[in-house]
Amino acid sequence: MNKKGFIFDLDGVIVDTAKYHFLAWKQLANSIGIDFSEAQNEQLKGVSRVRSLEKILEWGNTSLSEDEFMRLMGLKNDNYLNYINGMDESEILPDVTKILNTLIEKEQGIALGSASKNARSILTKVNLLEKFQSIVDGNDVSKAKPDPEVFLIGAQLLQIKPEDCIVFEDSVAGIQAANAAHMIAIGIGENDVLHEADFVFKNFTEISITFIEDIISGKIKKEPKNLSIDN
Ligand code: BG6
Ligand code: MG
Repeated sequence: MNKKGFIFDLDGVIVDTAKYHFLAWKQLANSIGIDFSEAQNEQLKGVSRVRSLEKILEWGNTSLSEDEFMRLMGLKNDNYLNYINGMDESEILPDVTKILNTLIEKEQGIALGSASKNARSILTKVNLLEKFQSIVDGNDVSKAKPDPEVFLIGAQLLQIKPEDCIVFEDSVAGIQAANAAHMIAIGIGENDVLHEADFVFKNFTEISITFIEDIISGKIKKEPKNLSIDN
């Protein structure tokens, strides 16, 4: 039997939480006199909470004491969690549950590979936690995407070789991390943004069961152009 490891990013792949990150960061940035646009929010996708605040401060040409920095990170997260608390299954992105159920039926490895420290509570909210065999989140990694650590730990927990793993990602940093891990990188979003991926789909409704079966059988492989010799 062919067994592969399917590793899913969370924010923007399983649920559309990017809009809540945006609202919470915007409120925080504006409260310290810094503008914050949707285009800037795009650049924070896949980026850790600490690095996100550092970038916002850079854009606003502002620096803070360490205490104030920590306080603002806490404020942002409290605000974000208020939005998360209102989430339910209706916020699962289209056909995500269908793909997860197909993979379960076909006895494939399924892991989460997310930068978020809120990943477990979000999966619980939308009632998907039990679909995942392994979860790797922002609490488990020391190096953020584009470092491959998050996905390599995922493969290890699934006990599947990295080259037999497939990553679903909506961020550029996440696609780069999947490539660095030598995994098939599937972009969920726009082709012009995620052009480093092996395949790009707008969302899971575009992914056919045949495509999944061809990955499992090995008929579909990683694009050779995305396999560098030195990593
Ligand atoms: C990523 C998001 O999944 O998680 C980022 O794309 C976010 O926008 C990061 O900053 C960290 O999330 P959290 O929930 O730990 O603040
Ligand atoms: Mg994401």
